[in-house]
Amino acid sequence: MGLRTAAEAARQRAYAPFSGFRVGAALETEDGSVFAGCNVENASYGLTICAERSAVVSAVSAGHRRFRRLLLVSDAPQPIAPCGACRQVLAEFAPDLPVESCAGDQIARWTMRELLPARFTGDVLP
Ligand code: THU
Repeated sequence: MGLRTAAEAARQRAYAPFSGFRVGAALETEDGSVFAGCNVENASYGLTICAERSAVVSAVSAGHRRFRRLLLVSDAPQPIAPCGACRQVLAEFAPDLPVESCAGDQIARWTMRELLPARFTGDVLP
């Protein structure tokens, strides 16, 4: 399954009763596997998990830590950019990841380095 199809399918599974805004993300691993994620909201709003982090957690839980690209889709009429929290989480594993965001026939493209030029890293931790 292609990344766009996987992201669209994940968006259909979004749990977004509070915002009504569905997001799907698909992450391709180094070996060509695809892991998708959707946003999962919570009645305690701040506990909501974005589609991007769902996809990363799914892939890492299955033993994958090396990624080739990420593709996003949402209910917005234009491509959305990943939120700041998701940028930090994505950059943990793939600081140069190519990111594509699609809406209809519009596509926005960035690298993680553009989206998060500086990040907190574990280098300084004891
Ligand atoms: N959301 C994502 O899943 N990814 C983003 O990059 C931005 C926002 C979700 C979180 C929440 O469920 C809804 O979109 C509205 O913020």
